[in-house]
Formats: sequence, structure tokens, C-alpha cells
Amino acid sequence: MFVIGSGAQHLKKEIEGSAKIINVEIKKFPDGEKYVRILEEGEEATVIQSMYRPQDEHIIEAILIGDALRERGYKRVRIVVPYLAYSRQDRVTKEGEPISVRAIMRMLGLYYDELYVFDIHNPKTLEFFPGKAENVSPAKVIAEYFREKLGDGVVMAPDKGALERAKSVAEILDLEYSHFEKKRISPTEVQMTPVDVDVKGRNVLIVDDIISTGGTMIKAANLLRELGAKRIFVAATHGVFAEGAIERVSNAVDELAVTNTIPTPVSKISIVPEILRL
Ligand code: R5P
Repeated sequence: MFVIGSGAQHLKKEIEGSAKIINVEIKKFPDGEKYVRILEEGEEATVIQSMYRPQDEHIIEAILIGDALRERGYKRVRIVVPYLAYSRQDRVTKEGEPISVRAIMRMLGLYYDELYVFDIHNPKTLEFFPGKAENVSPAKVIAEYFREKLGDGVVMAPDKGALERAKSVAEILDLEYSHFEKKRISPTEVQMTPVDVDVKGRNVLIVDDIISTGGTMIKAANLLRELGAKRIFVAATHGVFAEGAIERVSNAVDELAVTNTIPTPVSKISIVPEILRL
């Protein structure tokens, strides 16, 4: 039994075929405030709400849906968040700042028993949620999308921190994996070197959690090309994409594909099979 928020409408059609969707009315008052109404009774519900732009609106809507479900008598309420906004604001860097992701988790915890987030920036932050919280890996759907195209290629992480993700994808495909080492050579320049892997004449898939400006991926792809890589594919879970990033990355690689945690023109990999398994 799913309730689909405005941030997950792009997933509705695919979910509809396989699961029951609870009817909900969502609209905006003329002053801009949100209105939600749950139109069916029940015991258990799983809300799906992705929190991309307008982030704050999607967050408030998730809170209102949670409150409405409780008010309507739902006993067990879960939320699946394909993209969790504020997840990168996970520590105080200057005195006086909030730990924004903690604030969001605590708010969701007022209404939801369980939280499922796709590829959260820092899995440790799930501990801020008072109930059961899980990081959902998109490795399987990414791996299956690239299986044929990649052949016996290599899976690369753009940095050491992203290695686990690349490893998960590589293990599903039974392929070699590695990562780039990043070395700061000046305040504005970072040097990247692939570690212990020969990419000459081989297809390479670079996998990261987020693509924003595309700078990281373009740099990695250019380097792979210089080293003689054959076809270069780029994948990420969340296509946050700054202005012009899709074009810039697409021009630098053979194919760019992200999952549909955020709807974008290159969200070719669906996370719906993973949602239906939760
Ligand atoms: C960093 O922590 C993330 O994992 C990504 O590597 C980063 O957000 C990518 O940013 P950009 O596309 O702007 O290079």
C-alpha cells in the first residue's frame, strides 16, 4: 500500500502495475501552503517521497502526509526517500550551524516508524532517525543496466570514499574494480590517478553517488581516455545536475545514465524494483 508524494510522481506509473496505491489529494492553497488528504482507510502504508528541488516543499509534504495517515488511523507507517535533501549537511563546519540532516531525520521520526533512503551520502547519519532506518543500494539496478555494454570491462570509483559502491556493482557483474586517488596539487587543482588497474583497450564504468557540476566525472573520464580506455560509461544514483552538467558530461563520455531517484532526462535506470522489494 503506497502513498506517492509529489516528489515521486514520476515513479507512479511503474509502481501502479505491481502494487496498490492509496488515493491522496495533494494541492496548494493560493498562499502557497500545501494541503494533503488521505482518501482511504487502512492499517499500513508506505509513503514514497523524493526530496529534490523544491526540497523544502517535498519535506513539508512528507510530514503532512505522515500526520494525515496517523490521523486517519494508520498504525504502521514507513517512508521511502529516493533522494534525501540536506544529506550532505551532516556536520557543523562553522560554529552556529545546524546538523541539517539530523533535523530532517528527527522530523520524519515524529511520524514514520521506518525510513528507507537510497544511497545516502553518509550512512552514519541514519542513526539520527529514531526508528528503523536503512540505506538502500542501487548497485543491482545500475549493474544490470550496464551488464551488456560493459562486457568484461572495469568498474571505477572516482575516489576512495566511493569504492564500496563500485565494488558492489563490480561484484554483481563479476568484474574488476578500482578507484582514483585524488591528490591536491594546488588550492584549485586536484590530480587524479587510477590505482592498480590497466584500462587500456577496456570498457570502463565510473560510478558515484551524486553528479552535480559533473567536474569529478569529466576529469576521471578524460584521464581514462588518455590512458587508452575503450568505451567510457558514467553512472550515479542521484542526478542533482547543475545547469549544463548533463550536456558537459554527455559530451565527455560514451554514455551517462543515472537512476530515477530524481527525474532528469538521463534518469534511465529505475529504482522501482528495489522499492517493491522493501
Ligand atoms: C562527493 O562527495 C560526491 O560523492 C560527488 O563526488 C560529488 O558531489 C560530485 O560533484 P561534481 O559533479 O560537482 O563533481
